Amino acid sequence: MNGKKITENIYWVGALDPHLKIFDVVMPTDHGTSYNSYLIIDEKIVLIDTVKKQFQDEFLDNLKSVLGSLNRIDYIVLNHLEPDHSGAIEKLLTFTNAEVIVSKNAKMLLKGMLKRDINPRLVGDDDFIDIGKGRIQFIKAPYLHWPETMLSYYTADKILFPCDFLGAHFCDENIINSINADFFHEFKYYFETIMRPFKKYVIDALNKIENFEIKIIAPSHGPVIMQDPQKHINYYREWAQPKVFDRKKIVICYVSAYGNTEYIAESLKNHFSDKNYSVSIFNLEFADTNSILDEIENADAVLIGSPTINGDALPPVWNLISSCISINTKGKIGAAFGSFGWSGEATKLIVNRLKGLHWKTIDEVLRLHLIVDNRNKSEIISFAEKIEEAL
Ligand code: FEO
Repeated sequence: MNGKKITENIYWVGALDPHLKIFDVVMPTDHGTSYNSYLIIDEKIVLIDTVKKQFQDEFLDNLKSVLGSLNRIDYIVLNHLEPDHSGAIEKLLTFTNAEVIVSKNAKMLLKGMLKRDINPRLVGDDDFIDIGKGRIQFIKAPYLHWPETMLSYYTADKILFPCDFLGAHFCDENIINSINADFFHEFKYYFETIMRPFKKYVIDALNKIENFEIKIIAPSHGPVIMQDPQKHINYYREWAQPKVFDRKKIVICYVSAYGNTEYIAESLKNHFSDKNYSVSIFNLEFADTNSILDEIENADAVLIGSPTINGDALPPVWNLISSCISINTKGKIGAAFGSFGWSGEATKLIVNRLKGLHWKTIDEVLRLHLIVDNRNKSEIISFAEKIEEAL
């Protein structure tokens, strides 16, 4: 495939990966993806991002199809250093002396990528390069979704290059330069999987570009958004908006082999409901993980219950905690409870895992021996009061 013209001045020169089934090990990509890279041809020539290393030869061919010689590139802007966008930089630099431009947080990452220091130009807010008819304006946008991420905006064509931000894993060569295909599901799923833990930073970035006139969004994955870009920006603002609640919220998630851990969970639910907290309770054997994540994201405290079997908590608990990487749980109050037969390690293991994920844990777990009933009331109440203190 050759480079594709997007506007009079801009070409897509990336790579298509239609057969990709899973991105970054965890994210299913039913429609494959693309690694978008763009050439801006003004008095100076600017390349925005590169592609995954596996596609570098195809990418260099696309560049040559537009430029002839790669030595014509004046600037290479790397908005993000994750290897799906920077993987071709090492080989590209063997063909060109172009100046590399990255955000101030990216210098060490670039050195790690190249295994040498090339002294790139480091930019932040208010920095720009004049390239002829227009300029490239840089916008610092950390944690979208790495610490070094930034956005670039070309003033002549009013086009935003946001890298992963506003992207989608959706591969269709016909939709580069159009939006005839419906990729809303992938656009939303991308936000939920990649951007959701960083909602605060999403809002910060949206505020920074609020007064930019944006006619085209050219992300690093999926379709170039040429129709109604503002609608897509508005979706992000809606999804990232913090929710406000009038009561403190507690989520209780548990598994129970013989109903004893369930007894604790139900007792805690009744205790906190009576005290007018908002309480949601989930048996992890049957509940839908996405629904639980929505609740956990908005919770002030999360109480996790598991019996101990063979010295460990049960897999649904570990699966839930692993799934929490797609939401921001840092600083959330976490506690563990469960009944046990002879060793009872599960609760401590859960708390230690939550601690490792930077939750604010209640280190004193509720660990009750075998059969749990009304005779354990005082221990359950005492555990609940520790959580109330933390709230
Ligand atoms: Fe598409 Fe964060 O890389």
